[in-house]
Amino acid sequence: MGRLPDRAGGHRGGVSGTTGRDTRLVETGRLDAWTRGPGMDAGIVNPPVWHASTILFDSLAALDEARRQPDQGLFYGRRGTPTQWALEAALTELEPGAAGTKLYPSGVAAVAAALLTVVRAGDHVLMVDTAYEPSRAFADRFLKPLGIATTFYPPTADVTPLLRPETRAILLESPGSLSFEVQDVPAIVAVARQRNIATIMDNTWATPQLFPAIGHGVDFSVQALTKYTGGHSDLMMGSVTTTAKWWGRLKTKSYLLGYCVGPDDAYLALRGLRTLGLRLDRQGASALTVAEWLRGHPAVARVLHPALPDDPGHALWQRDFTGTSGLFAFVLKRGARRHTAALIDDLAHFGIGFSWGGYESLILPVELDGIRTATSPDAGGQIIRLSIGLEDPADLIADLAAGLDRYEAQF
Ligand SMILES: Cc1ncc(COP(=O)(O)O)c(C=O)c1O
Repeated sequence: MGRLPDRAGGHRGGVSGTTGRDTRLVETGRLDAWTRGPGMDAGIVNPPVWHASTILFDSLAALDEARRQPDQGLFYGRRGTPTQWALEAALTELEPGAAGTKLYPSGVAAVAAALLTVVRAGDHVLMVDTAYEPSRAFADRFLKPLGIATTFYPPTADVTPLLRPETRAILLESPGSLSFEVQDVPAIVAVARQRNIATIMDNTWATPQLFPAIGHGVDFSVQALTKYTGGHSDLMMGSVTTTAKWWGRLKTKSYLLGYCVGPDDAYLALRGLRTLGLRLDRQGASALTVAEWLRGHPAVARVLHPALPDDPGHALWQRDFTGTSGLFAFVLKRGARRHTAALIDDLAHFGIGFSWGGYESLILPVELDGIRTATSPDAGGQIIRLSIGLEDPADLIADLAAGLDRYEAQF
């Protein structure tokens, strides 16, 4: 097979910044040139799932030509096939101002790849204290032995006093993992830009649908596609989307690290992406309904949800985000982790398990001990995290009401 059309070109739709949010989701990443096989005069809707390690070339000359431009078509399986390219093109188009996207076998791998693209020995990283715990562990246990120091900063702090001459990257995550603090992303970006420091944002909670991170000036928009984009709790994947300034370096570092994803998972993620807007709308609205109900419950001390008007992050959330996803938490007034089985074990509609962002609701007791160093790990009580799915919110509320009755009956 000879050289085929450029992987990034030929999609229908011509997605532009002015196209509506859900139209973009439908039209993006549909690589016309690849959904019409050779000799086919009609196209199919979705990209085929192209499995490949070896690519066969017609001649040595064709192989040598491909070697000169390995990014311009099929070359070797690790560089992807049209299935992965379609997803990459879609994720890039969904972030106005972005130049390209790379895929990774998990969200954690994506965070690691973004950091490794920027930092070298002797550099310093600022990481938000409320980052996902494995991001913290990557800084402490992987970057530190390489001679890269990390300072953890409170999510709402002015980062200026913490900067050092060797600070190269600032990692943001907003809202923060487990405790949901909202950061002033534009303010941090402004400080970083003045000093030529790269900003990397874990944007998994909002996705670019609710917070287009690149548009807000962030250099690297990271997503665990495992969550909302996949949306069906059946795949692991991460992505990093970046600007023209960093795109070449991200590609090179990711290539050197050998990162790639399988075409079946890329296909599932692309399929999930088509309904991301609808799912976020529904899950976000249901989560807010459940959060409001919990706020009025006598067993609940606080609800950690930035879309609630009395949340400390509400003003920033309202200014910067266009909606809410379905993940939040609440703090119980009394009791400890050992008491939470009474609440959780007999729920009819909530699964007990890690991860979030799928179509099904999940519940998990969580603790901040050991994963906060710049802020207090004491939330004032046991935290319970909820990932709200596509069920009827009335069923979820009835379930939680019964669970909280069981919980309270212990005291
Ligand atoms: C905010 C956040 N970022 C990244 C990840 C990592 O994603 P993955 O599990 O795909 O490695 C998670 C997983 O829970 C997460 O919650």
